Amino acid sequence: MDGNGRWAKTKGLPRIAGHRVGAETLKTIVETCLDLELECLTVYAFSTENWKRPAKEIEALMELLVEYIDQELDELKQNGIKIKTIGNLSQLPLVAQLKVKKAEKETEQNQKLLLQIALNYGGRKEILDAVNRITQEVAAGRIAAGTINDSLFAQYLYTAGIPEPDLLIRTAGELRLSNFLLWQSAYTEFWFTDVFWPDFTAQHLYQAIYDYQYRQRRFGGLK
Ligand code: IPE
Ligand code: MG
Repeated sequence: MDGNGRWAKTKGLPRIAGHRVGAETLKTIVETCLDLELECLTVYAFSTENWKRPAKEIEALMELLVEYIDQELDELKQNGIKIKTIGNLSQLPLVAQLKVKKAEKETEQNQKLLLQIALNYGGRKEILDAVNRITQEVAAGRIAAGTINDSLFAQYLYTAGIPEPDLLIRTAGELRLSNFLLWQSAYTEFWFTDVFWPDFTAQHLYQAIYDYQYRQRRFGGLK
């Protein structure tokens, strides 16, 4: 969900105003995904690198997260959306941790759309966490050394049990992965747009999916 700050700048507004409108975009896109009966939407809300930002902006982002859950939880529940976060929650402000946990708990049984929120998420950290857990298992004799394969490894990621993304959309003209779902996006189709996240609409999502449908996915094989 990139480009909130630049969007605000073009309007002569403070960066946080961009984040605020960005949160509205998220509401629209979640509804659209629900209408389209998509199985899973993962949004990159806060990365392990975003702590480098000024404290004031981080604080505002955390407040926005709490506000988003406060405002949306009832509707998310009613709509059958299951909320799950990926990332290290323990470094978040306590109030944000509690809100997120409440949202996860109260939507646990929902089965329509899985809304995965990457919060204090980093792909490398996720992989290292998996490696550390697996090596503990090896040391304890529960996994034999030399037997670790793709499917076992994936079970130790935050996304265990969740399908790999088919399509990844990056907004605001950036052409990089920025530590997002490194393992899982090995064969993901990418779609880039210069549109800033606050200006991203259902129409853009339709276009991305439309384009995706014309991609040939060979997964390294032949047509
Ligand atoms: C939102 O956009 C991404 C978040 C970390 C919430 P940015 O804040 O990265 O906006 P730009 O890239 O400065 O425009
Ligand atoms: Mg950015």
